[in-house]
Amino acid sequence: MERQKPIVIGHRGAAGEAPENTLASFALALEQGAEGIELDVHITKDGEIVVCHDPTLERTTNGAGCICEMTWDAVKQLDAGAWFSEAFRGERVPLLREVFALVPAGILINVEVKHSYEGRMEHALLDFLRKSGRLEDVVISSFDHKCIRRIKQAEPAAKVGLLYAANLLNHAAYAQQMDIDVFSLHPYFHSFDQDDVDGAAAAELAVYPYTVNRPEDYQRMIDYGVTGIITDYPGRLAEFLK
Ligand code: G3P
Ligand code: MG
Repeated sequence: MERQKPIVIGHRGAAGEAPENTLASFALALEQGAEGIELDVHITKDGEIVVCHDPTLERTTNGAGCICEMTWDAVKQLDAGAWFSEAFRGERVPLLREVFALVPAGILINVEVKHSYEGRMEHALLDFLRKSGRLEDVVISSFDHKCIRRIKQAEPAAKVGLLYAANLLNHAAYAQQMDIDVFSLHPYFHSFDQDDVDGAAAAELAVYPYTVNRPEDYQRMIDYGVTGIITDYPGRLAEFLK
């Protein structure tokens, strides 16, 4: 059977070659041919959705502390590029809406919700997405499947994905036993096999494994017939797929 080529999804932009989750990283991913990007979100004390992996600022900025205890005004002062390399000094933590402004319509945006923040994130995110008019381009995923269920119940037009590392007995069946319509599975790339991908295809679920960076693993994912591959090196994957 002829398999469809998976789409290239840049993890945190092009996290292998630029400071993760910055505008520079997303711009590089697009330049390198990514057809989708993955990003992580948290919320500030004053309700702004910011793009950052960790709930704290120490690892990826010159600041410190919890994002949820800081205002956007404080977070936007920080440098989020120099820790990666001098060439990226001046990059800062972006707002979700700044990433949307950068990314053209038609590119898949996988928004990974890191925390619910007692429901504040779901509320703010759906409010933003409805106003953006780009629900069609967006897949919201999370390791918190109850949060994903709340999002889908609040906005049936949202596409939602289940993110997980466990090698479940039956990946598609897990999604199907949820009382919502799941769009995609986002499994850890070592924790599933051909049967799981076939089962997902039969259930019309997209499969977006994370985070795949080596050629031999790219090949395995292609052979399985996954829908898209989340990688820190979108340029390398785009080249590999040619
Ligand atoms: O969404 C896929 C992947 O990003 C999940 O893990 O820790 O890189 O956000 P993490
Ligand atoms: Mg992520």
